Formats: sequence, structure tokens, C-alpha cells
Amino acid sequence: MKLKLAGPATAGLECDALVLLEFEGTPRTDLAAAVATFRDSGEITGKPMEFTLLHGAVGFQASRILLAGAGKREKFDVASLRKLAAAAARVLKAKGVKNIAVALESGFDAPAFITAAAESVIEACWEPDAYKTNADKDGSRRIEQLTVCVAPSAANETALAAGQIMGDAANLSRDIAVEPPNKLTPMNLAARAQAMAAANGLSCEVLDQDRMRQLGMGALLGVSQGSAEPPALIIMEYKPAKPTSDAVLGLVGKGVTFDTGGISIKPADSMEKMKYDMCGAAAVIGAMQAIAQLKPGVRVMGVVPTVENMPGSKAQRPGDIVTSLSGKTIEVINTDAEGRLILVDAITYAKQLGCTHLVDAATLTGAIVVALGHSMSGVFANDDALLGQWMAASKESGEKMWHLPVDDEYRELLKNTYADIANVGGRAGGASSAAAFIREFVGETPWIHVDIAATAWLDDAKPYMAKGPTGVPLGTFVKLATDWK
Ligand code: BES
Ligand code: ZN
Ligand code: ZN
Repeated sequence: MKLKLAGPATAGLECDALVLLEFEGTPRTDLAAAVATFRDSGEITGKPMEFTLLHGAVGFQASRILLAGAGKREKFDVASLRKLAAAAARVLKAKGVKNIAVALESGFDAPAFITAAAESVIEACWEPDAYKTNADKDGSRRIEQLTVCVAPSAANETALAAGQIMGDAANLSRDIAVEPPNKLTPMNLAARAQAMAAANGLSCEVLDQDRMRQLGMGALLGVSQGSAEPPALIIMEYKPAKPTSDAVLGLVGKGVTFDTGGISIKPADSMEKMKYDMCGAAAVIGAMQAIAQLKPGVRVMGVVPTVENMPGSKAQRPGDIVTSLSGKTIEVINTDAEGRLILVDAITYAKQLGCTHLVDAATLTGAIVVALGHSMSGVFANDDALLGQWMAASKESGEKMWHLPVDDEYRELLKNTYADIANVGGRAGGASSAAAFIREFVGETPWIHVDIAATAWLDDAKPYMAKGPTGVPLGTFVKLATDWK
């Protein structure tokens, strides 16, 4: 998509569709003649997400005007604009419109709004139908140009470019996440990461099975041994030209390309959805692309353990004891609690590589779906300062998060007779005991764990987003790095 800025004057702007905000209680005056009767009849109220399409409005050069209900002026913020601009783009894209403009009026024209408009329109245009072969699919209708109507300035151009970077990174992450599990094997995921890294000047190393055996990554390898597909550990690295901090931020993403549950096999119903079990990995890869392009002052490593969890004849069994890279032994009570097993070896390795701060994202537990529903990701932390930075970043990215406990009591649930720790802690507090398992391997390093099992995928399209992968928590990963303190 081509992006540009044009001045705030919209009347003379030629485009296929011009999106104008209509606030509740303060009707626009520049469209009075065109919409007076509709206002009188109550059709145009300015309520959030109300869309009215006008053709050939007098006084405007745009072929269409889309009046976008923005709700109460005093409540309108960057998050509201993100949703509204995205929903408007989806309305227009469905009509085959190619060249659109969004007018940001005074008060809503700060750089953060410009970035939000650009990123949300780019993300709104993504569709999950890459494998459909009909020419008229949703994904073949594209908005080709977006003009944001605000005063052009260097700062505003930078904000627009940042929006493009964020939107493209999110869509890269979604392109990877939506791939079916027969195409996106662990090795294929590694190839996608390498291609991203090469295109963006990042270094990328991929540890293969032999190397992981030499290193002693027994927890990760145990999960992978039931599959014919070899596992991989991907390490991408961004090094700032002029570091502004001694910190090395490690972003770790669960990359289970398909989770059958292994020998503790999942029910057939909806099992196909478990191709999404690499959404944490996809978010890390997308975030590394955006970080490479935005160039923050902090060093960042993206670490992705990737495996397929299958019940093959070599599969690990419930009752197996594996030795993790940390040296701690784990009794595998349930082979379906595989995410935490691959994460802990990746985290131990990230610490060995010098990461001073860690954030992992994982579609980790069904329990988080029960606890928080689909609107918020669960956040667990061992460090208040990093938690503060993470929650502040999430507020800016618009990705909603809720802090949940990972106190010592949850570690008690993982006590084991035969090994140092068990990989499951029972149904009660399942998201917290999963976090407590990871915490055991993190040690004193400041760490955040984000359970995205309920937020990584939309089972039904929203007005502002297609069905399928959401990219969460890519936006917060990137904000954390760019706002690093
Ligand atoms: N990938 C799943 C998490 C999941 C489960 C997401 C259900 C969405 C719906 C994870 O690997 C898993 O299977 N977790 C188990 C853990 C349990 C065996 C302790 C779960 O949550 O059921
Ligand atoms: Zn599982
Ligand atoms: Zn899983």
C-alpha cells in the first residue's frame, strides 16, 4: 500500500473515498446539505462504528465520503481511531475501492494518531485466504493508496512511516501464522525467519537437532521426538549502531507448528485450530522485522523454539523424565503441556547468550481462555519494573493485557516425586502454574510471560479485523523495545 500525507484541507482532495469522523453530539458542518435529512431521521448519529457512505457529495472532490461514527469526542483516543480506521477500510475494501483518504482533524492529528491510522488500515486489508484459488476472493480486493490528511511535517512523515512498518510487520506475522501445518513445518518456520532477517539486515542462526542434542536441550527434544519433522531453535539478533542501554532484551515465542497433544492426545473436535500454536513465534519474527526497521537503542534477540507435537512411535510418554538445558529434570505428566517444555530450554539458552531481560509469548493454556476470555492476554511477571514497562507499552499498542499472579504457591503445584519438577499442576490455576513452571527456569532475570492462547486468533471476523491470526503481542513487543528505559 502506498502511503502519503496531504494537508488538512479535504474539500479539494481527489480520491475514491474520503473517511471523515462524525462525533456524537457535534455534527459536522461541512456536509450540512448532503446529510441534513439523514441526520433528522436519526440515521446519522455519530455513534461508534456507524458508517454512512455518500456518493458525489457537493463541495468535495472525493468520489465518495464515508462518514465514520466516532462516538463522544472526549472519549476518542488512539485506540478508538485504530478500530474505526480499520473498520472503515474494510467497508471500503469490500466495495473494491482502491484509493482512500482519512482526515484527522485538529485534536486528533498528533503523530500517534497518524501511525495508528496507517498501521490499522494496512492490517485491516489482510485476509486469510492465500490458499483460495478464485480470482474474486476477499484477499484480491486491495486498497492501493492511503492518504492521511494532516499538516505535512518531518515528524508526521516519520509517524506515517512507522505506521507502515508496524502494519507490514503485523501482516508478515499473520502470513506466517495462517500457514497450514503441512506447509509450515519447524524447518519452514526457520526459513521464514532467515528470509526476514536477511531482508532486514539482522543476523539469524538456526540450531538443528544435532546441535541441540550436543547442548543438552532435553526438554525441547523430548517434545519433538514423536514427529518426523526435525525441530529448530531460531536466534535472530538486532544490534543498535549506538546502544543507549546495556540491556539485552530477549523476545521468546512458542513455535509449535502443530499441537496434537502428543500421546496425551487432544480430542478431534477443533484440533485443526492447533495450527495456531506458533503464534508466539510469528509475533517474535514480525516484531524483529519492525525493530530492525525502527532501530531502537536497545539490543534485541528473538529466540524461537519450534517443534511439531505428534504422537509418533518415538513420541515421549507420560512418565518420561527429561533433563532440560538448565540441568533440572522434568517428569512429563502430560505431553500436551509441551509449550512450557520447549520454552524453558529456549529461555535457558537466551540467558546463556546474554539476555538480561526476557519476554515470552505463548499460546500456552486453555485455562487463560477461561480466566480472561478473548479480549485480553494474561501477563505474568517476576519483576515490577519490567512489568511496568510492559503494561505501559501495551497501553500504547492497544493490545489489552491483564496482570495475573505467579506467586510461590503455584510452584507448589508442580512438586514431583521422581524429578525436580512436573510439567503440569492440575486444572485449578492452570495459567498461573504454567507460568510458575517457566519461572523456575528463568531464575532472577527480569521476565514477563504473556499467555496469548485466547488472543492470538479471531474465530470470527470483527468489523476491524479479518478472521484468523491477530499478530498479538507484536505491537507491545515493538513498543517495549522502542520505548526502552
Ligand atoms: N496449545 C495448548 C494451549 C491451548 C489449549 C490453547 C486449548 C487453546 C485451547 C497447550 O499446549 C496445551 O495443550 N495446554 C494444555 C495444558 C494442560 C495439559 C495442563 C491445556 O491448556 O489444556
Ligand atoms: Zn499442548
Ligand atoms: Zn501447545
